[in-house]
Amino acid sequence: MPDHVPPLSIASARTLFPGAEKGPYFDTAARGLLYSGARTAIDAILDAQEDGTLDKKRAFDTIESTRSLFAALIRCHADEVAYTRNITDGIAAFAASLPWKPGDAVVVCDTLEHPANLFPWYGLRDRFGVTVRTVAQQDGMIPLDRLIGAIDERTRAVSVSTVSFAPGFRFPVADLGRHCRARGVLLAVDAAQSIGIVDTDVEAWQVDALSASGQKGLMSLYGIGFLYVRRAVAEGLAPVYVSRFGVDVGDGHEAESGDLAAYRLAPGARRFDVGNYNYTAAAAAGASIRLLLDLGPRQVEEHVMALAHRFAVRMTEIGLPVFGGVSNAHASHIVTVGKALGSAHDSTGDADMAGLYDHLTANGVRLGVRRDLLRFSFHIYNNDADIDRVVDLCQAWMRR
Ligand SMILES: Cc1ncc(COP(=O)(O)O)c(C=O)c1O
Repeated sequence: MPDHVPPLSIASARTLFPGAEKGPYFDTAARGLLYSGARTAIDAILDAQEDGTLDKKRAFDTIESTRSLFAALIRCHADEVAYTRNITDGIAAFAASLPWKPGDAVVVCDTLEHPANLFPWYGLRDRFGVTVRTVAQQDGMIPLDRLIGAIDERTRAVSVSTVSFAPGFRFPVADLGRHCRARGVLLAVDAAQSIGIVDTDVEAWQVDALSASGQKGLMSLYGIGFLYVRRAVAEGLAPVYVSRFGVDVGDGHEAESGDLAAYRLAPGARRFDVGNYNYTAAAAAGASIRLLLDLGPRQVEEHVMALAHRFAVRMTEIGLPVFGGVSNAHASHIVTVGKALGSAHDSTGDADMAGLYDHLTANGVRLGVRRDLLRFSFHIYNNDADIDRVVDLCQAWMRR
């Protein structure tokens, strides 16, 4: 055994993703490539279930270790993390637990938010008379000043995505967080697009709730999510579902904890846990998060953003319209190409862009289309060769 194992570099991490060699993969904004270490963790659980040897105690240990890894990734305490099924589930669980009074308001940018961060609030409007106050987008950006301007004395919460699904601009969460905290307004964030890519510090950002899911930047599975709720906020909330894993039963089984009717909610966000977990997906997410922590979240962000920027510059040089331009202060790891932001969710009415999309996909490039724009999204498994290949294909298509 060598006595020194060199730290894993981001460049060499590509070899841990079999899918990266199957053509340029630029669709992390839809779903990431599955990490081989996550696949191994999944297989171990499936093998144990197939063989009848699944050890529930070890499965619970996996739940706690992944919870702690996620907490490390976003820089909070493990007690501030609950398991969910997806982004919607996390936002809805938080939103529905707040003590709403008719006329209370939440502020959102309806024209840029994903439906996952809208329907839970509209549902509260219809059930409890909550006002959903909307602000319009501005040049593809969720405007900070409009969100702040929409806050009044009835506003209980603002909900915003850290990076929009299209055109993929990054929102200045910490600026809004400072403002909301000073005014006693809760800030919830949909971190679907940023988790695992943007270095996240929930305390520095001053967010009260953050919803994340497994299949994109966490390079694991659909059907698992995480909900961060700041301890001081969580402990004043009553979850809609009170469940056996959301109550404080000490070390034993919840059924043996005395008078179940006199339950006490679990500390922090743990009260939002509901029944049995998706052990397989938690094992997968844990493996991926460990990889991200080993590589360093700050280094991951810098690497991925630099790649996306180089790509945006190259696309501009060959004459393709990068939405927002290359000197966009809100640029992220998502680069969109097209003339204008449209309204169709996952198609484009622009014949040129549709033609380019067909050409790229016919040549093995995996990318997305959102709101009339071609969407290229980056992660640690991308490299400059991927960029070169796509630029070459675009040039060939433009010469056609
Ligand atoms: C910003 C954003 N929020 C939420 C989602 C998905 O939400 P859910 O996991 O609830 O389906 C996506 C994409 O899938 C997204 O891009």
